[in-house]
Amino acid sequence: MSKLAPSILSADFSCLAQQIGLIEEGGAEYVHMDVMDGAFVPNITFGGPVVKSIVAKTSVPFDIHLMIEKPELRIPDFVTPQTEFIVVHQEACTHLHRVIQQIKDLGVKAGVALNPATPVCMLEHVLGDLDLVLVMSVNPGFGGQKFIPAAMDKIRLLDRLRKEHGYRYVIEIDGGVNLSNAAAIRDAGCDILVAGSAVFGAEDVPARVREFRTILSGEQA
Ligand code: DX5
Ligand code: ZN
Repeated sequence: MSKLAPSILSADFSCLAQQIGLIEEGGAEYVHMDVMDGAFVPNITFGGPVVKSIVAKTSVPFDIHLMIEKPELRIPDFVTPQTEFIVVHQEACTHLHRVIQQIKDLGVKAGVALNPATPVCMLEHVLGDLDLVLVMSVNPGFGGQKFIPAAMDKIRLLDRLRKEHGYRYVIEIDGGVNLSNAAAIRDAGCDILVAGSAVFGAEDVPARVREFRTILSGEQA
């Protein structure tokens, strides 16, 4: 069974707590928070104060996706009682091994994201340390982009590597996920699917979360 992490990038920021309430009502397992700095990616979204303001408003665990340069300077800002994962980009870290240890030392699960052009082998020597690998299936920075199919090969490779070596990371995908491709992504071995516009663009957000969860539970082909 795979899990759903709706991305609030496509939510109505003027009423964020209410929007997160909708995905909680639908039974979403995580809330995916896209932090953008206007340097690593072209957009700016929000930072630690916004993340912290949500803590008292929901019980859904946080999946924090840092699309920022020098994430090592900011990681403590995102540690809250509800932070399950902090994910940094491989491309943003000169000293990736150190950043992974920094996240884990703060008592949070550590993830690394790979842009579409970055091969899995860039993580070869840290895969055993990771709690999560995030495969980007779009170039980061914007919601509503088209799924890049080569991401499926990365999921299969990461699934094979963890079986061969006994690694314990979960595999997450982010970008262009919708009701039509969710079953195939689940079947490739992906554990957590991020979906932004496909969730918050729906008329009935809790119902859309339930539709995804039915697919991800494996009850529907
Ligand atoms: C893209 C973000 C994604 C984004 C996905 O840079 O990391 O989390 O919200 O949006 P959709 O699901 O609309 O592609
Ligand atoms: Zn994201």
